[in-house]
Amino acid sequence: MSLSIVVLAAGEGTRMRSAQPKVLADLGGRPLLWHVLEGARALAPRRMSVVVGAGAEAVREALEADDVTWVTQAQRLGTGHAVQQALPAVASGDTVLVLYGDVPLVSEDTLRRLVAAAADGSLALLTAITDAPEGYGRIVRNADNAVTAIVEQRDASPEQRSIREINTGLMAAPGNLLGELLQRVDNGNAQGEYYLTDVVSLAVAGGHAVTPVIADNLGEVAGVNDREQLAAAERRLQQRHARQLMHAGVTLRDPARYDQRGSVVCGTDTTIDVNVVFEGRVTLGARVRIGAHCHLRDCELGDDVEVLPFSHLDGVRAGHGVRIGPYARVRPGTVLAEDARVGNFVEIKQSDIGAGSKINHLSYVGDAALGSGVNIGAGTITCNYDGANKHRTVIGDDVFVGSDTQLVAPVKVGDGATIGAG
Ligand code: UD1
Ligand code: CA
Repeated sequence: MSLSIVVLAAGEGTRMRSAQPKVLADLGGRPLLWHVLEGARALAPRRMSVVVGAGAEAVREALEADDVTWVTQAQRLGTGHAVQQALPAVASGDTVLVLYGDVPLVSEDTLRRLVAAAADGSLALLTAITDAPEGYGRIVRNADNAVTAIVEQRDASPEQRSIREINTGLMAAPGNLLGELLQRVDNGNAQGEYYLTDVVSLAVAGGHAVTPVIADNLGEVAGVNDREQLAAAERRLQQRHARQLMHAGVTLRDPARYDQRGSVVCGTDTTIDVNVVFEGRVTLGARVRIGAHCHLRDCELGDDVEVLPFSHLDGVRAGHGVRIGPYARVRPGTVLAEDARVGNFVEIKQSDIGAGSKINHLSYVGDAALGSGVNIGAGTITCNYDGANKHRTVIGDDVFVGSDTQLVAPVKVGDGATIGAG
């Protein structure tokens, strides 16, 4: 049977107290909804529909997903109403998996178990057991332990509120069964909404099988409704990243202080100290050492590179054995050839630095090309900007530039030249 996935993402996210739609909230450098779609893609569905409402245009633009059918829910009348908007585009013979745009970290294994549970034609729902069920719908079971209903927190009796099994919101069912049940959902509840969760009691009343699947990890099914829950989800995601790296042979001095906002690929025996932030795409070779409190965005560092503490690297490519920092700022378009050295309080931008060249103290090098074996003395500046245009500085191989030299570009220094201090 083919699989269609419907993702609910039309909510305003009132509890976030934000001007942007909740599903665009940043989790690990990407929108919440991005994570949900990545999880969905792992199941190779025939169709993915995303129901959007609040800030629909912004959501579509931010996600840039061309494998998604966008469905607009003009009026936010509840989760059941939202699923209904997507069903006309779903082939009736498909199994439909409903995901929530604000439940971003469900594992592929759990999703597969849920879909498999609907294969016999039953309504499958993903539940979880927790000591802190506040805010979630509660799973009501009868004396035979069969699920009979989901009761929302606001509609629950004090006795029902003490139930520790909660609704994660995720469901799978044959599309035609889901459509049939949704037609009978009404809005007679505390919020005056058409609840998706009501399909459970309707299924039971209609004699359809309801199959609960209990998630084995509470963290993966936690919803993000406010910024406290967002921060909790962020930590869980980072723990997941940290674990993956450690299993790939990377040492993290403290996995609880690891932040990856994008993708990080590392060779073996690389060591990352505490409070390092990675953004965008970062590739590190083998035996790389990243010191504490560094910030790296879109970088490619070769084997045996060392970045000392408090350095800021953005759009940098560094060859084998390069050493950078502490307190260096290396900006986009900088390529450091093997064994180059960049020391403290040095800024480099859009420059090629040749093999073994050293810029060790208090310098600015911008729009420059340095050959190999160059020594740049302390306080050297390439004056690349004349107030209107930027110009290049070209320095040959084995040049010695004395301290406090100002190279007013455009300027060219030949191979082997020596420039005195000042
Ligand atoms: C929902 C469930 C609750 C469950 C919890 C799990 C219902 C009625 N309740 O509650 O049982 O424990 O999720 O996290 O389903 N949405 C729309 N259109 C709407 C309303 C909501 O697309 O008209 C989307 C939201 O953007 C969100 C998702 O549906 O992604 C869930 O809505 P939300 O309001 O957060 O429901 P909860 O109160 O968390
Ligand atoms: Ca929610």
